[in-house]
Amino acid sequence: MIIINSVSEMQRWSQEQKAAGKTIAFVPTMGFLHAGHHSLLVEGRNRGDLLVLSIFVNPAQFGVGEDLDVYPRDLCADTQLAAEAGVNVIFAPTVASMYPRGYTTWVDVEGITDILCGASRPGHFRGVTTVVSKLFNIIQPDVALFGCKDFQQLAVIRRMVLDLNMLVEIIGMPIVREADGLALSSRNSYLSPEERRQALSLSASLALARRLAAEGLRDSAAIIARVRDLISMNPATRIDYLQICHQFSLQVQAQIDADSVLLLAVFIGKTRLIDNSLLLG
Ligand code: PAF
Repeated sequence: MIIINSVSEMQRWSQEQKAAGKTIAFVPTMGFLHAGHHSLLVEGRNRGDLLVLSIFVNPAQFGVGEDLDVYPRDLCADTQLAAEAGVNVIFAPTVASMYPRGYTTWVDVEGITDILCGASRPGHFRGVTTVVSKLFNIIQPDVALFGCKDFQQLAVIRRMVLDLNMLVEIIGMPIVREADGLALSSRNSYLSPEERRQALSLSASLALARRLAAEGLRDSAAIIARVRDLISMNPATRIDYLQICHQFSLQVQAQIDADSVLLLAVFIGKTRLIDNSLLLG
């Protein structure tokens, strides 16, 4: 495994591999890798001749007052996990090389970026789509893997790839959870033990919604009301949004069907966590 920090060196490596007829699978991350990332790497290993992992805490997708400065980083542990997962290249560029002086170009997917996380975090998805486009241009992957925990991000990236005719296959991978249900996230490291206990209300509320759906309840507002009550029993929580949407269009649904997904974002103390689940799938 090699670590490449330079954009031009990464481009050269990818060009050489493509010229030799190799396929490249790519897992973009912001580092502080956990078992969710590991599952992407394991699948990526099967999907291409070569596996590239990027580690880049992308300032463009953080808003003012968000956690850019304290975002957890551990390149040493990440390197070990990547080596064990069979990564060929870690691409870890600097901010200055990705956004050099005079940088002015942005990729903006409209519509589905204004809702849900996009409404709470203006500019977030513009930062994501810009950096992912740049990474795709640099690495030239045949396939790229993203976690379904960031459900809206996956939908936005699929839209971008379709709209901009990018020659990369996008794979969405299932959410990986702790044994007690907490969805894995690098931001879980911010939680105190008590906050972590209260954060379990997120996965518990998704399980409740799935049970209500299985019992025949179809009214989204009624399901959301029950979910809201369950989460709000925990004093450290503050709900950012709870929405039931169509899994592909992300249109809000008043009645649920086989394509309904419950998406939620909840602050636990100062930590904002997201989670989601299909309701009938
Ligand atoms: O999901 C993430 O970790 C980031 O949003 C991504 C896709 C690596 C872009 O910075």
